Formats: sequence, structure tokens, C-alpha cells
Amino acid sequence: MSDDFDDVVLEARNVVKTYGGTRALKGVNFEIRRGTVTTLFGENGAGKSTLMKILSGVEQPTSGEIVLDGEPVVFHSTNDARDRGISIIHQELSLAPNLSVRDNIFMGREITGPFGIDFAEEARQTRELLADLLPGVEPETHVNDLRVGQQQIIEIARALSVNSRILIMDEPTSALAAAEVEILFGIIHDLTARGVAIVYISHHLEEALEVTDHAVVLRDGSMTAKDERANIDLEWIVRNMVGDNFDLGSPPSGYEFGETILSIRDLRVLDPENPERSIVNGLSLDVRAGEIVCLYGLMGAGRTELLEAVAGRDRIDGGEILLDGTALGDDSIAERIALGIGLVPEDRQRDGLVQTFDVGTNLTLASLGNSIVNGVLSRRTEKKIAQDLIRTVTVKTPGPELPIGSLSGGNQQKVVIGKVVATDPRVMLLDEPSRGIDIGAKGEVFRLLAERAREGLAVVYSTSEVGECLSIAHRIIVLRRGQISAEFGPDATKEMIMAASGEAVAA
Ligand SMILES: Nc1ncnc2c1ncn2[C@@H]1O[C@H](COP(=O)(O)OP(=O)(O)OP(=O)(O)O)[C@@H](O)[C@H]1O
Ligand SMILES: [Mg+2]
Repeated sequence: MSDDFDDVVLEARNVVKTYGGTRALKGVNFEIRRGTVTTLFGENGAGKSTLMKILSGVEQPTSGEIVLDGEPVVFHSTNDARDRGISIIHQELSLAPNLSVRDNIFMGREITGPFGIDFAEEARQTRELLADLLPGVEPETHVNDLRVGQQQIIEIARALSVNSRILIMDEPTSALAAAEVEILFGIIHDLTARGVAIVYISHHLEEALEVTDHAVVLRDGSMTAKDERANIDLEWIVRNMVGDNFDLGSPPSGYEFGETILSIRDLRVLDPENPERSIVNGLSLDVRAGEIVCLYGLMGAGRTELLEAVAGRDRIDGGEILLDGTALGDDSIAERIALGIGLVPEDRQRDGLVQTFDVGTNLTLASLGNSIVNGVLSRRTEKKIAQDLIRTVTVKTPGPELPIGSLSGGNQQKVVIGKVVATDPRVMLLDEPSRGIDIGAKGEVFRLLAERAREGLAVVYSTSEVGECLSIAHRIIVLRRGQISAEFGPDATKEMIMAASGEAVAA
């Protein structure tokens, strides 16, 4: 490393941020160095995103200073920060869904030529940016036609297109598959080699360890630990994040499974992007009461479409889905919920939460019947139920009346899970439910699923993290091109599972 590498380029000095009665940051000092990756760890609600929003001009500090190249600065907006070479990849996707990929990447800084906006040049640069990360997606594709993972890549590409000296990545990989994470890490490597300073936030702790040079841990709005890569390991992170060591445990045992509740027979769902092809391609699967089945597979393997078909969101193009031996018809999502099928969807922003409602209403929305007392909706009962759910899924919030947008990313995800738990399902489908939740909260979710499974709940848990399968599942089903390519018990190894998915396994 040359001398000017590793110089501090951006600093937060004694930064405090309060939102009403919440003290999100309690006097934080934080430094970012040239040509290095600083990772920021911390539980849900610790203040990571808040600190990053302050460094990138999204929010202003209540007190304290931002120092850029040794000079105090004030950013009034993200444009201010961007003009000084700082850009951010947001945790919650900030794309305009009705616009094209190209529009989203160049919004607010269009390329102009003698005849106005140079759309052709924008399209060319879009293709170039996406060549490695998202080949096959056209510049004119509308963002709302893309899957969450693809949208996340657009968000990344937009930040990369600015050529910043400081790049903040707030959970850039929460919806990405392993291969895409590798590509992103290659990009991070090239950027730091050119002197770019990067901040990286992720709840995939092992993955974050792979890229980190400096690690910082935030806890309850204060910095509690800081060290260099050479001195830290996974145990250091977890201990500093949650206070002591932590194990996700193993699948619940010591009881018999009940009858088959969910039965999927020769299911076929056409690919909405290419109706010539089946994205779920003649798949059969039975799940018994008390059983936790993990669905593992790469992006595009058909996991989401399978779960959405069972939940009544996607129409099916062949085969049948049976509940307690009775074939389901064309019923709506609400009818499926009433039958006892609950889905924690992949996209919490679009399908999971109503942004204009408060925390309590979001939690009770799918189970309003429980709040009806003597034929009328009782606000008191509703609030009581919401408070119980907040405890059950450990949402960090002062109360159910707060707006959903005031919760940290991981806590919003817990609300989506709580909303389904509230419907008291018999079959619970979870599509990448651990997206953005911290390791402690993941443990809570696993405990909750284990407890309900013991009482007879059938669980189908879709994930792209092999480790999760091994900690929670009685049975691991690997999906590949819409079909089951392998099935394992809890004694399988990570390598076996990954190999069956078609993923390259490091030798
Ligand atoms: N607009 C807001 N209004 C009220 N409270 C807020 C607002 N934004 C954040 N907070 C609160 O500030 C605290 C820190 O939130 P922040 O989003 O920074 O957490 P985080 O560390 O990024 O968590 P996660 O890992 O879940 O993303 C939380 O208690 C959150 O509820
Ligand atoms: Mg956050």
C-alpha cells in the first residue's frame, strides 16, 4: 500500500441523531480510509443506516460534525454529498418502479447532447454497467418487472456509475445470490485498488469478513468495538454485537410429525418473462404437520414462484396443490390465509408492508378478525394483539402507533413475519425471511418456528444461505431449474447442498 492509501477521508465526529424520543446515535466517532473497506456491524436498530444517511447527506445530524479531507462540511442533500464524491447504495431500494432501468440509473444527472437527453448514450453506459452483474437485462426494461435481487443490482449499478471516491453500501447483498456476491466483491476489490473508500454493512457476517479491512461495531447508538481485519473473527463480531456468543441451534427434535398437510403435485408455473418456459417445472412435494422443509437454490431456480403459487399469488399452469388432501381452487390470497396458508413474501416493500400504515396496523392487517369483539372492530384489542406480536417477534419500536418507516430495515422484516404469525397459519411459507435481520433476531425467528412446528405447524423455508438450512430444517430440498434436484436430511454438508444446486463449490 502506498502512503496516501489508508488516509482518513471522511469522518463523523461525536455525531448525535435523535428522532422524537429515540436517540438513534449517541455521539459516534467513525472514520473511513482511502482504498480500504470499513465494515459496520450491529444489531437491528443499532444505528448503522442512520449514520450512513448522515454521511451521505440524506439526514442531518442533531449535533456533531462531518469532516471531509480534514475540513468540516455540511451536506444539505444527497446531491451535495454526491458532488463531493460520496454515494450510497440504500438498504431499502430507492428505485422508481415505473421507470426503466436506464432512467433509474441516470435520474437527476441525465446525459445531454446537442439535441437534449442522449438516450442512446445512456443506454450504452447502462449496458456496460450491467454487463457483468446483470447480463440480459435491457436498459428499457421497467424496474417493476424485475425481481428483488435484480433491482438490488440496479441500485448498485446506479451508485457505481457516479465514480465516487467514497461509496457506502448498506446491505447491498441481502437479495443477491452467491455468484452475484462474488462479482460484487471483485468490483469492490477493483475500486479499493483505485483508492476508493468503502463502507460495507451486512448481516451476512462471514461474507462481510471476506471483504473487510477495518471493522466497527455499533450497539444502541454507540460505538462499542473497533479493530483491524487481522485481529478479528466471526466470534469477535458476534460477541461485540450481541454481548455473548451465539449459536443458531439445530432443527427441533423429539416429536413425531403428523399427517401430510400440504401436498404439491406435478406443479407447473410458466415464467412470466418467457412463457415458452416453465419456471416451476413439474414439481411434487409433501409437507407434514410439524415438519420444517428448507428450499435451497440459486436465484431463478423457481423457489419464489413455487411459494407464491401455493399462497395463491401466482396462477398455476398445471398440476395441483392440496391442503389436507383437498385440491385448492382459484381462491384469492385472502381465502388461502383463511384456509391456514401464510406467506412471508420476498419483497417486503411491495408485498409485505403498507408504508402509510403504522406498525400495529401492519401487524394485524392480515388477521383483523381476531380484533373483532361483539361484531365490531375493537381498537383496544387490536392494539393489545399488536403489542403481543411486537414481543413475539422482538420488534424494536417504542410502540405500535409509530409509522412503519421509522423502523430499521431488519425490524420492518420482523413485522412482515409477525403479520403472518398473527394469522395463526397451519402452513407457513417463508421466502428469504432472514433478509436484513441480525443474528440474534434470526435465532428468535428460528426458535419461534421450532416452537410452532412442535405444535403442528408445517413450515416451508426458502433461503439462499446453506447454513440456515442446516440449523432449521428437517429436510432440505434443492431446487434447480424448477425441479427438485436433490433432497437431504439435516446431516448433509454445505458442500453437498451447494453442489446439488449447480453452484460452484470452492475446492
Ligand atoms: N425516521 C425515523 N423516525 C423515528 N425513528 C427512526 C427513524 N429512522 C430510524 N429510526 C430509529 O433509529 C434507530 C436506528 O435505526 P437504523 O435504521 O439506523 O438501524 P440499523 O442499524 O440500520 O438497523 P438494521 O440492521 O435493522 O438495518 C432505530 O431505533 C430506528 O427505529
Ligand atoms: Mg439499516
